[in-house]
Amino acid sequence: MGRLARPDQLRGLVEADLGSLGRDHLDVVYLRQQGLESVAEHFGVLADLRREGLIRHLGLSNVRLAHLDQAEAIAPVVAVQNRYGVDFGRVNDEILDVCRARGIAFVPFFALTGAGREQGGLAGNDTVTAFAHAHGVTPAQVRLAWTLSRGPHVLAIPGTGNPTHLAENLSAADLVDLPGLSELA
Ligand SMILES: NC(=O)c1ccc[n+]([C@@H]2O[C@H](COP(=O)([O-])OP(=O)(O)OC[C@H]3O[C@@H](n4cnc5c(N)ncnc54)[C@H](OP(=O)(O)O)[C@@H]3O)[C@@H](O)[C@H]2O)c1
Repeated sequence: MGRLARPDQLRGLVEADLGSLGRDHLDVVYLRQQGLESVAEHFGVLADLRREGLIRHLGLSNVRLAHLDQAEAIAPVVAVQNRYGVDFGRVNDEILDVCRARGIAFVPFFALTGAGREQGGLAGNDTVTAFAHAHGVTPAQVRLAWTLSRGPHVLAIPGTGNPTHLAENLSAADLVDLPGLSELA
């Protein structure tokens, strides 16, 4: 997560990714904004690259609703990736609902670590832990299932370097209908 690239740097960054991946197009490219009032100039460059066929779909990350509106006036947005979890980033409730209404995927990051962010590990939450114990599942599964229960347009991208955690996280998708899950927070 480096500094925000300037608009005139974006083409070179996309071309570098194409080169290192050995592809002639990128399936999805997110513009991760930081501190911009308007994303129009940056997003406009990515929209040009999409028109040229170097990028298939565009997304946004770390954005507010105003940014989404600015971008959609320029080109279609297929996904919004913002921080979000049962006890973290709930300022994004509104944009999550707007994404659902507009047919845009909402992709939460830090669903597991919450306020711990990049420090890693699972965020502690007594309510989540008690719910997990009551249902014979793990707190990580509850955290992931809760985010997925926020709508069919919500995806999960938990990071893990642990195969046991990976299996656990994958099966969280089967828990979205657990009674009481969506009322957890
Ligand atoms: N767009 C953005 O601005 C932005 C910002 C941050 C992150 N992201 C993206 O979001 C994704 C997730 O981010 P993240 O990996 O930092 O956060 P995360 O998914 O919330 O949490 C990952 C942490 O949770 C642990 N974990 C995973 N599964 C677990 C389980 N079943 N039980 C206990 N602990 C578990 C991992 O440790 P173990 O390895 O030990 O399992 C790791 O410490 C990544 O793809 C990242 O690139 C995007």
